[in-house]
Amino acid sequence: MAYSFKLDLPQRPRRLRRTSALRGLMAETTLGTADLIAPLFVIEGRAAPEEIASMPGVYRLAIADLVKECRALHKLGVPAVALFPKLDPKLKNEEGTGALDEDALVLRAVRAVKKAIPDLAVITDVALDPYTSHGHDGVLTPGHDDVDNDRTVGILGRMAVLQARAGVDLVAPSDMMDGRVGAIRKALDAADFTQTGILAYSSKFNSAYYGPFREAVGSAQAAGTKLLSKATYQLEPGNRREAVNESILDAAEGADIVMIKPAGAYLDIIREVRNAVSKPVAAYQVSGEYAQIHAAARLGWLDLVRTRNESLLAIKRAGADMILTYFAKDMAKLLG
Ligand code: PBG
Repeated sequence: MAYSFKLDLPQRPRRLRRTSALRGLMAETTLGTADLIAPLFVIEGRAAPEEIASMPGVYRLAIADLVKECRALHKLGVPAVALFPKLDPKLKNEEGTGALDEDALVLRAVRAVKKAIPDLAVITDVALDPYTSHGHDGVLTPGHDDVDNDRTVGILGRMAVLQARAGVDLVAPSDMMDGRVGAIRKALDAADFTQTGILAYSSKFNSAYYGPFREAVGSAQAAGTKLLSKATYQLEPGNRREAVNESILDAAEGADIVMIKPAGAYLDIIREVRNAVSKPVAAYQVSGEYAQIHAAARLGWLDLVRTRNESLLAIKRAGADMILTYFAKDMAKLLG
């Protein structure tokens, strides 16, 4: 005889999980295509798309292919793209002067995308790492023992104005220098770009999860050289109060949107920033998070689609209004 036992139980939470219709009604968090931003890598010339080894399905694209990809994303309902240039190493130098070239690859890419798909929001990074031979986000001090904060901020303001002139909707300072958001706002306004917004990488951690990205844009040197890591500007992974403070400061300096990066390992920070700042909050599911899911799926150890969906839903649940993710296109296909 089957074992029987009965509880006298008025509260039975499982009642609401009984059918898919009820589970749908109870859903507290939903992910939509309108929440997603697709990061894209752009290269010079007319080369065929080059897949990034540690990021299956992510390519470095020549401008013509980039425009095609942006058109496809726009058709799928993805509202925005973030563009990252990969420069020929010959164009890099200590001072990252390529960042102020009016004909810089990323600026030509922005112009081409905005011309072809004006409704697609375009975002560009404001930082020197694609342009410096040492891979740092700024210029170095005379002794080469650190990144020079104020001199870097001066360059970033000029860089932001060039990007605004090329037509970006949002500039995204990703450098973590002190005072850069305020200085960029001032520079944009002085050049009459009062409508160009700032998506600030506000709470950006010194993370191992950026590895595949640095490979993709060729800024890997800074990660592990004897010179220094990015630890003097990016946040310590263990510091929560400091991370929240950075977002509060950026919001006060005039950031229109604050961002937490990486996302998956920093869900508590997303939640705290969400509670502390009334401006929109973005989160960046970075290259290493993407690589990790793909690698495990390739080994047959995790289900790619379910893990991907869960990872993004968790970021949304933590409090992100929008998510930069290399899964944007796949998710848009799924979500419709
Ligand atoms: C550069 C920048 C980085 C990323 C975005 N902008 C890397 C870094 O700080 O070294 C990482 C994105 C990713 O890993 O997907 N300032």
